[in-house]
Amino acid sequence: MPGTGLILGIESSCDETAAAIVERGARTLSSVVASQIATHARYGGVVPELASREHLRAIVPVVRAALAQANVTLGDLDAIAVTSGPGLAGALLVGITYAKALAFASGLPLIDVNHLEGHIHAVLLNEQETQPRVLRLATLAQDDSCYENMGGEPALALVVSGGHTHLYLARPADGSWTYSLVGRTLDDAAGEAYDKVAKLLGFGYPGGPWIDALALHGNPHAVPFAFSQIKTKLHLAGKAPRTKAARTAPIANLDPHFLFSFSGIKTAVLRYVELHNLRPEAESRRDALFTGPDVPARPTVEAALATCDPQTLDLIASFQHAVVGDLMKKTFAAAESLGVRRVLVTGGVAANRELRQRFTAEGSARGVRISFPTLALSTDNAAMIAAAAWPRLQAGRFADSSLSADPSLALGR
Ligand code: KG4
Ligand code: ZN
Repeated sequence: MPGTGLILGIESSCDETAAAIVERGARTLSSVVASQIATHARYGGVVPELASREHLRAIVPVVRAALAQANVTLGDLDAIAVTSGPGLAGALLVGITYAKALAFASGLPLIDVNHLEGHIHAVLLNEQETQPRVLRLATLAQDDSCYENMGGEPALALVVSGGHTHLYLARPADGSWTYSLVGRTLDDAAGEAYDKVAKLLGFGYPGGPWIDALALHGNPHAVPFAFSQIKTKLHLAGKAPRTKAARTAPIANLDPHFLFSFSGIKTAVLRYVELHNLRPEAESRRDALFTGPDVPARPTVEAALATCDPQTLDLIASFQHAVVGDLMKKTFAAAESLGVRRVLVTGGVAANRELRQRFTAEGSARGVRISFPTLALSTDNAAMIAAAAWPRLQAGRFADSSLSADPSLALGR
C-alpha cells in the first residue's frame, strides 16, 4: 500500500487529552499526553464536566505538539484515528469533533477506534518497538500487516483500568485481530477499587500509584481479604450489569470462573477502616497532603509514608495483594481453559509493580508468555489509538461523517 503509513491518533475518552503520530502501527514518532490529574485530584475521581472543559482547552495544543514533535504536517499523514468509545460522552465528543474537522479540512480518512482495542494494541506496539532492529525495519518496509510477525498466535488480553476489567480472546485474522469476550467485572473495575480505597484512606486521585508505592512498606498477608467465587450462571443470566463500567458487554454466556467483582473488597476495606478507627488518620492525611493553599501539586511518597501508621500500610499491602491475586487466578484459569500460551496485560492498573512481578513469575512457571506495555503506554495515550488504526487503514475501513461518541461501546462479542 503506498503512502507514508503515518497515522495521527487522538484520545479523549476520560481524563487525558492525548495525540500521537505512529508509523505503520510499529514506530512512535511522538506521543503527547496532557493529564488532568491536578484538576480531578481533590475530588477523588474524574468529574465529567470538568474533563470536557479541560479537553476543549488542551486538544488543539496537544495535536499541534504531536505533529511538531514528530516533525510532520497533516500533509504527511495517511489517516486520522480517534477514540469513539467507551468513555465519557462529553469527553469523547471533544476528540471526535476535532478529528472530524481535521479530516474534513485535510481530506484524510477518519478511523474510529475502540478504546479497549487501543489498550490491547499498546502491548503490540511496544513489542514492535522492542523487537530487534533488523526485523523491525523489515516490518516497517513491508506493506502487509506488521502483525504477521506476531506469529499468528491467539492471546488472552486482560484490560485492567479505571473503567474496565475485561478478558478478551484476541485472534489474529487477515492482518488484524478479532476479539471475543471471555470475562469481565460485574461491578467496579479494579482501578476503580484502587481509586475508591485510596480516596477512603485520604489519598488523591488517581489512587493506583499511591497504593502501588505504599504497599511496598506493608505486610501483604496482614489482612486476609478473600474473593468469593461467583458460583452459578443462573443468577446472572439476563440480569443487567450493576454499574455503568460493567455495561459494555453482556454477561449471560460467560463462564462465572472468569467474572470479576471488586465492590466487595472495597466494602471490606471500609469496614476495616471503621473497625480499627483509621478514619481520623485518613482525614488528617487528606488535609496535610492534598488540601490547603500551600500543598505541592503532587506530594512525594516519603511525605505520604510519614502520615501512615503500620496498620494502614498493612491494609494497603493486603488490599493490593488480594486484588492482584484475584486478577491472576482468573486470568490464568481462562488461559488454561482456552489453551492459550500468551497473555497481554494492559490498562492503567497494568502499571502496577506487584501485578507485573507476580504475573511474570506465574507466567514463567506455567510456560505462558506475559507481555505488558511500557509504563507510559499502560495508562491512557494516543499512540495505542494510532497503532490500533493501522490494520483498519490497510483494510480501508473508515468512519463516515456521522461518527459520534458511543460511551458504552463494546469490543468483540
Ligand atoms: O487506563 P487508564 O489510564 O484509564 C482508563 O481507561 O480507565 O487507567 C487509570 C486507572 C486508575 O484507576 C488508576 O488508579 C490506575 O489505572 N492505575 C494504577 C496504577 N497506575 C494507574 N493502579 C495500580 N497501580 C498503578 N501503578
Ligand atoms: Zn484506558
